[in-house]
Amino acid sequence: MSHMLQPLNVCFILYKPANVFMLLLAIVPETCLHVDNSRKWGHFHDSGHLQLHPLRRFDFIFAVFGFKVIVANINMSFNLAGKKFLVTGAGRGIGRVLSKTLSEHGCKVYALSRTQETLDTLAAENSNIHTIQADVRNWGELRNKLDGIEVLDGLINNAGVTEGLSGPALDVSKASLDKYFETGFLASINTIQIIGKKMVDAKRSGSIVNVSSVLSLQSFPQNIGYNTNKAALDMITKQFALELGPHQIRVNSVNPTLVDTEPVQNFVKDVSPVDKLFIEKTPMARIPEVNEIVYPILYLLSDFSSMVSGTTHIVDGGMMSAFATKL
Ligand SMILES: NC(=O)c1ccc[n+]([C@@H]2O[C@H](COP(=O)([O-])OP(=O)(O)OC[C@H]3O[C@@H](n4cnc5c(N)ncnc54)[C@H](OP(=O)(O)O)[C@@H]3O)[C@@H](O)[C@H]2O)c1
Repeated sequence: MSHMLQPLNVCFILYKPANVFMLLLAIVPETCLHVDNSRKWGHFHDSGHLQLHPLRRFDFIFAVFGFKVIVANINMSFNLAGKKFLVTGAGRGIGRVLSKTLSEHGCKVYALSRTQETLDTLAAENSNIHTIQADVRNWGELRNKLDGIEVLDGLINNAGVTEGLSGPALDVSKASLDKYFETGFLASINTIQIIGKKMVDAKRSGSIVNVSSVLSLQSFPQNIGYNTNKAALDMITKQFALELGPHQIRVNSVNPTLVDTEPVQNFVKDVSPVDKLFIEKTPMARIPEVNEIVYPILYLLSDFSSMVSGTTHIVDGGMMSAFATKL
């Protein structure tokens, strides 16, 4: 957990080709490139200041730059290499970027989603990603497909209904409410029971993240299905954090504001410029990119958050804490 050079960090440095290249840039000029036999760094002028040898200037720049890149990568490492996670809703959007990023950090990822084609392209891009096609709304199917899975270090419940609105609260249909609650609330309990039980039985500590929303905390027009489902998901987080805590399994939610994914882009194009509404209410005056949701999830999966559990982790550029952004 410290920022010092641990074996895992060294592996991480060597695992990235860019780091190896920078390391060579830092070392090669010093060892090979100097054909002149005066191996001095430079010479002092009568005035006292040091004039660097022209070639040594390059050494110096390469060494400093290479070292900086390496240190930056050490600090960015969440030490997740070798961990195993299940990601639901991994075919598109946040789940897809999360799966790829975890894989790039050396994790084995079980990517679960509804549509086989998106899973195929995801797996083709990365050999560390194993795909599972399933509809999380189907309780029994999900159990069958996850039954034989190995013991994991955690999971990310990300699948959610993202297209459209559920409609006015007085008119919303049971079918619409079922869609939200089966995809979010029920499926999340199902996956945590399956994966969580295996972790408890194997005495494996770990981390579970539920992808909720700022809309679990505030009402929004014509959105009762989405909002109440996310509010229920936040309570799932707290309840499982309570019951899995003694087994050293942490459970947290990430609650993003509007994120720039495909369904949001379609909604902005076809229904309402809702992005402007969010931007106006946000002190940082923008909506996040997908990576800006993925990295807080990585933090919650990593040991950097080893004592964080039962929280709703809002990622919104300050929106929820501001009553207004201007007078
Ligand atoms: N985007 C936002 O503004 C925003 C803001 C706050 C919270 N969130 C939450 O973040 C999560 C991801 O959102 P996103 O914008 O990345 O969504 P997205 O781009 O629509 O991707 C959702 C993924 O989940 C899969 N999925 C949906 N229903 C499923 C089901 N029944 N069974 C299996 N897989 C299913 C989809 O599969 P298909 O490819 O088959 O559709 C898709 O791969 C959701 O829980 C959402 O509520 C999003």
